[in-house]
Amino acid sequence: MKLALVVFSATGNTAKFARKIKGYFKSLGMDTDVYDITARANRQEPMDFKAYQGVVFGFPVHSLRAPKVVRDWLCTLDGHGKKAALFFTFGGFSVHPAHHSTQKLLADSGFNLVASAQFPGAHTFNLGGWQAFADRPNATDFTLAKEYAGAVVQRFTGKDTGVLGDLDPGNYSQEQLDVFESLRFKIITRLPGRKDRDCRMCMACENACPAGAMDAVAGRADPEKCIACLGCVANCPDKALSINDTRPFWAIKLDMGKTSEQELNQQQGKIYL
Ligand SMILES: Cc1cc2nc3c(=O)[nH]c(=O)nc-3n(C[C@H](O)[C@H](O)[C@H](O)COP(=O)(O)O)c2cc1C
Ligand code: SF4
Ligand code: SF4
Repeated sequence: MKLALVVFSATGNTAKFARKIKGYFKSLGMDTDVYDITARANRQEPMDFKAYQGVVFGFPVHSLRAPKVVRDWLCTLDGHGKKAALFFTFGGFSVHPAHHSTQKLLADSGFNLVASAQFPGAHTFNLGGWQAFADRPNATDFTLAKEYAGAVVQRFTGKDTGVLGDLDPGNYSQEQLDVFESLRFKIITRLPGRKDRDCRMCMACENACPAGAMDAVAGRADPEKCIACLGCVANCPDKALSINDTRPFWAIKLDMGKTSEQELNQQQGKIYL
């Protein structure tokens, strides 16, 4: 059986799971082609999944949904009724509306979602000083990913005929989630940029930016386009790009999530079947 694994990963967590899951699929006799859609250039051509028996999508959670550029891209696909599976990586806070809204986007594009999952990954805003899932993913997280890969194969091959029902939409409307997303540079993070440090001007930040937002020469991002994925900050070879100190908002964020640092960091992933 031939599978496609489509991954978006700005700072590497989701890509780590994708590599592991591809390996688990291999051990189960599945041949998997991986498509990395993080760079904007990789989302320009129409993608055709006719050659595959199943498609797996792996994304980070951004403000309780898949990243905006991913949501837009999913609307361009034609799934031809194929079976699909989904997984998210998350940084310790809310995830579940992302399963529901992406399930709907995939259904609208003609995919039949048979499984979903969420796996812990260091929160992107740790780059500004947060301490959410700082040492994740760990071995336990990858064991759960192995279980997920096994369950996905069972569903794709029809050995497990169970059906994934409607996933929980949560308490927020899409309009409210749009508002959360629009606050990205107003409360916790400021726009990524280059301040005092010199850089080798490799252009990687501009070329790899998922949203076409970064101007490498100016050393700053366009606030209208930037999705705050922080891929540019994480991947700059000279560590010349940064965001603000996110620590002043850490206690408030924990309070809003009605959790403590210890409780948050003890969370495990989850599989939906
Ligand atoms: C703009 C933005 C919004 C995020 N929103 C959430 C969120 O709502 N809930 C959560 O648990 N983590 C959230 N995160 C953390 C990421 O989901 C997490 O760190 C993920 O593993 C990053 O994946 P990547 O390394 O593959 O890019 C957010 C990260 C970013 C950059
Ligand atoms: S990735 Fe870093 S080194 Fe390369 S152009 Fe951007 S800021 Fe400069
Ligand atoms: S400029 Fe914005 S969208 Fe582009 S890589 Fe940096 S944080 Fe992500």
